[in-house]
Amino acid sequence: MQDSGLKLFIMGKSKLQSREEPVVDNTVTITNNRTGQQADFDIIDPTVGLSSIDVRQLSSKLGLFTYDPGFHATASCKSDITYIDGDAGILRYRGYPIEQLADHSNYMEVSYLLMYGELPDDSQYQNFIGSIKNHTIVHESLMQFITGFHNDAHPMAIMVGVVGALSAFYHDSLDITNPEHRELSAHRLLAKMPTIAALSFRHANGHPPIYPCNDLGYIENFLNMMFSYPTESYQVSRVAARAMELIFILHADHEQNASTSTVRLASSSGANPFACIAAGIASLWGPAHGGANEAVIRMLEEIKDPSEISKFIDRAKDKNDSYRLMGFGHRIYKNHDPRATIIRRACNELLQELDTINQPLFEIAKELERIALEDEYFIERNLYPNVDFYSGIILKALEMPLNMFTVVFTMARTVGWISQWAEMMTDQDQRIGRPRQLYMGIEKRDYVAMDKRD
Ligand code: SDX
Repeated sequence: MQDSGLKLFIMGKSKLQSREEPVVDNTVTITNNRTGQQADFDIIDPTVGLSSIDVRQLSSKLGLFTYDPGFHATASCKSDITYIDGDAGILRYRGYPIEQLADHSNYMEVSYLLMYGELPDDSQYQNFIGSIKNHTIVHESLMQFITGFHNDAHPMAIMVGVVGALSAFYHDSLDITNPEHRELSAHRLLAKMPTIAALSFRHANGHPPIYPCNDLGYIENFLNMMFSYPTESYQVSRVAARAMELIFILHADHEQNASTSTVRLASSSGANPFACIAAGIASLWGPAHGGANEAVIRMLEEIKDPSEISKFIDRAKDKNDSYRLMGFGHRIYKNHDPRATIIRRACNELLQELDTINQPLFEIAKELERIALEDEYFIERNLYPNVDFYSGIILKALEMPLNMFTVVFTMARTVGWISQWAEMMTDQDQRIGRPRQLYMGIEKRDYVAMDKRD
């Protein structure tokens, strides 16, 4: 099965090791003014973007740690996969601008690119598609596992549990030191995610399971498993498939975001890939991260009428209120989220095509977008609508069930997680993740017997 293109994923090292380590030709000097100690630290230069200070010897040389809650100023790894420039609004997968991939590619080709580092030729592409199609079915016992969930279980709860349980079914691909096992686990995860996602929705709604149909493309297969019925023929909507393909491409990877960093940290202990991806799913579920697309619609439904928008804007501005406008702002993009620019156009076209643009919910969304883009508070803080604002509206227009929104994000991001995981498995610099802390508790005290405590 391995052809030249697949070698990159399997060997991995050839991609990371063959690249010349950045020539470190300068340093920074840090002086501890308390002790007068001084030490030099290498600067590591990336291909593009900010350079990093190599602080690995900081505690041994100067007896100091760095303090960086949320790791917002910390490069946790070297990576060849995705580049983001938050100020310039740039996103590139393996060097290809997201705008070009959105216009010309598809999710399976983008998945190959993220996993193997190069765009496939036709035979590589067909091999890849063929392998993914071979793994779309899940073990029948796993179907029983899903039916064990209560019917009001949130599909994300099912995804976390079932994906983590895959390691109980696929013992033949758990040796993470074996490149073939790594590739097989990656293909299984990519192939089975839509099947598990659709099954979680079908179970929750008391609908019979629909098996994957390998005559269909990746996205169409998911929509067919979600919405078709054994009692009648079902034609996947081209409009829906096109919109979903774009959502999948735009959400496929995003550098070291919270869920990807979770996957990397879990993987650093040597845990199996299924468990690590389940950890990533759990992290993505949060409303500040992947849960935002569902939270956007809940926010729009809560607003109810355009006349109520100003109340929500005021709450979002109120420092004493933790309320935030869902779908606005981004940790990295302080200019605009390039994905939002792309998906905003598709969103408007879709709403026109489905003739839903005048529906109340979408009117509120358009008015909220307009007000926020003109409001000083948002302008000063570069709080633009992000990709989740528009993807939430698209999924709502496609009548995707609300509690499946983050599941869609999960499916799309799976290839990013497994690509980052695979890269980490062959990165010589990587060892178990173990951040330190600033201990602010009581330094030391002696035990007091219960009857002596005041
Ligand atoms: C994703 O990391 C990734 O790459 C994530 C992601 C990916 O593809 O993996 O891009 C996907 O998670 C997109 C983001 C989806 N989340 C939301 O839409 C939830 C709403 N957004 C916020 O929760 C927030 O904007 C975050 C979490 C996205 C970013 O939070 P930060 O980094 O704390 O925001 P910040 O430091 O830039 O905030 C600056 C100011 C603060 O006010 P001040 O203290 O300066 O007065 O802006 C305020 C914040 O309070 N602010 C908001 C706001 N987001 C930030 N105020 C109102 N509404 C908001 N949404």
